[in-house]
Amino acid sequence: MSALLTALSGQRPEKLPVWFMRQAGRSLPEYKKVREGTTILEACLKPELAAEITLQPVRRHGVDAAIFFSDIMMPLVLAGVGVEIHSGVGPVIDEPIRTAEDVDALVGREMADPSAISEAVRLVVDELGDETPLIGFAGAPFTLAAYLVEGKGSRDHLAARTMMHADPHSWQRLLAWCAELSGEFLRVQVDAGARAVQLFDSWAGALTRADYVERVAPHSAAALAAVEGLVPRIHFGTGTRHILDDMAACGVEAMGIDYRTPLDEAAWLLPGLPLQGNIDPALLAAGWDALERHALDVVERGKAAPAHIVNLGHGVPPTTDPGVLTDLVALLHAL
Ligand code: CP3
Repeated sequence: MSALLTALSGQRPEKLPVWFMRQAGRSLPEYKKVREGTTILEACLKPELAAEITLQPVRRHGVDAAIFFSDIMMPLVLAGVGVEIHSGVGPVIDEPIRTAEDVDALVGREMADPSAISEAVRLVVDELGDETPLIGFAGAPFTLAAYLVEGKGSRDHLAARTMMHADPHSWQRLLAWCAELSGEFLRVQVDAGARAVQLFDSWAGALTRADYVERVAPHSAAALAAVEGLVPRIHFGTGTRHILDDMAACGVEAMGIDYRTPLDEAAWLLPGLPLQGNIDPALLAAGWDALERHALDVVERGKAAPAHIVNLGHGVPPTTDPGVLTDLVALLHAL
């Protein structure tokens, strides 16, 4: 079995598996070259291009997994929601969802034919063979809803958090719809050959524990249930120390830990679960000595968990020198 899947099954493989969130994309010159003249959302719908971008970091760095090149907004795009990606800003929604009527009009929509996604996954899996698994992913219902309600990224997600209390019924319908889309997007990737999935609840850390448990977690659980028993499931968010066990209870085989929580503490909070993480992305540009010291400390703390998949504590920053990532993979594989 591949090192990644061994670790996700709770065993310790011979070599430490490593991959990086956002390994495919903006930090690679070969990515900038093939993406030229194509918007990100167009690129996600061109199977050959999406497959090529997915494979680039595997060839360059020798990482132990590919992560599918797409975006958490794709299911919304396929459901006909007007979304644009503004450079330096992120996703922007044409008509933010603010009222019960907006929610009513939205939840009737269905995801259009996802064959461009399936085709891209198949191309990647054919090229990777059995050694290197492809990880599929989706945005979690809260993170999707936060973009839909706010209309763009936000620091405290005030409009979304207000809606969940001002109109709980609409909130629950909105999240149930997002969960259906997330689950379907995961399932499409798994049916086409993805061997694991990761659910990204990037903004869940903005929630109180009570709101997360009552108004969000059941929907994340519904999305994850779409691939239950088919492939191992990883759940990741940032700023989530206060809800780590609630996120794990959504039904997962491993938890992704952001850079703020040391892995030995996370292992104590999540007994028995394989952990993924959590090299601080800031250290990638802090010089090799500081990075090496930090990476070895992360590995040491990771020994408190039954199994450890090395990753960053959030995505690769766009300004990262790709050579540093290649050296980091070599360091970890030599341990
Ligand atoms: O690497 C790149 O920046 C190039 C391609 C790109 C992606 N998304 C790929 C992606 C671009 C330009 C976007 C737009 C986008 N979507 C942004 C702005 C990015 C930026 O910094 O300018 C944001 C914030 C989104 C929304 C989004 N997409 C979130 C919140 C997440 C979850 C992960 C996270 O960063 O918190 C994604 C996932 C995503 N976007 C992936 C990819 C390839 C999959 C996950 C991965 O590769 O690890």
